[in-house]
Amino acid sequence: MKSKAKLLAIIGSHRKNANSYLLTKNVLDSTKMDYEIIQLAEKRIDFCDLCEKCIDEDCVLTDDFNQIFEKMKRADGIILALPKYLFFSSRFLSFLERLATIEHMRKFMGYVGALKNPDYKLFQRNKPFCIFFVSGTGRIGGQILSEVVDDLKGLGFKLVRHSSPPNLEQ
Ligand SMILES: Cc1cc2nc3c(=O)[nH]c(=O)nc-3n(C[C@H](O)[C@H](O)[C@H](O)COP(=O)(O)O)c2cc1C
Repeated sequence: MKSKAKLLAIIGSHRKNANSYLLTKNVLDSTKMDYEIIQLAEKRIDFCDLCEKCIDEDCVLTDDFNQIFEKMKRADGIILALPKYLFFSSRFLSFLERLATIEHMRKFMGYVGALKNPDYKLFQRNKPFCIFFVSGTGRIGGQILSEVVDDLKGLGFKLVRHSSPPNLEQ
C-alpha cells in the first residue's frame, strides 16, 4: 500500500522522457511512496523580469512556474534530476533562479522603514530533497554543483541524498 507522504520530482532535462526522467521514475517506482513527476521540458518557465511584485504577492508571470511552486510547497519531499549539458541544464537553472529571486526580493527588497514581508521563507524549514546529477561521464563540475545545492539549502531544503562524487555536505 502506498504511504500518504507524497514526493514531487522535477526533471530538469530539455528532453521529454529521456535519461533523467527514466532514472528518476525507476527509483520512484522502487519506493512505496506516492509521487508526481514534473518534466520542465513540458513546461513554460519564463525569465524573471525583476518587476519586484513578488515582494507582496505571487509571481505575476503567466507561465507554469506558480503551479509547480505550489506543488513543491505541498510535497513532503522533492527529487531533483539535473542533467549536465556542458554546464547544467539551463532549464533547471532558470527554474531555480525564479525560486531564489522571490525569496531574495522578499528578504532584502521588502524594507520600507520596517520589514514588509517577514515571512519571506519559501519553504518550511528542512524540507527534504534528493538530487540526481545525470551526466555522460559521471564527472560533475563541483563548484557549480555546490552553488546549486547551497541555493537550495538557503531556500529551506535539507539535502538527504545525492548521486554524485563531489564533497557535498548533507
Ligand atoms: C548538449 C549536451 C552537452 C553535454 N555535455 C556533457 C558534459 O559536459 N559532461 C557529461 O558528462 N555529459 C554531457 N552530456 C551528456 C548528458 O549529460 C547525458 O546524455 C544525460 O543523460 C542527458 O540527460 P537527459 O537524457 O535527461 O537529457 C551532454 C549532452 C548534451 C546533449
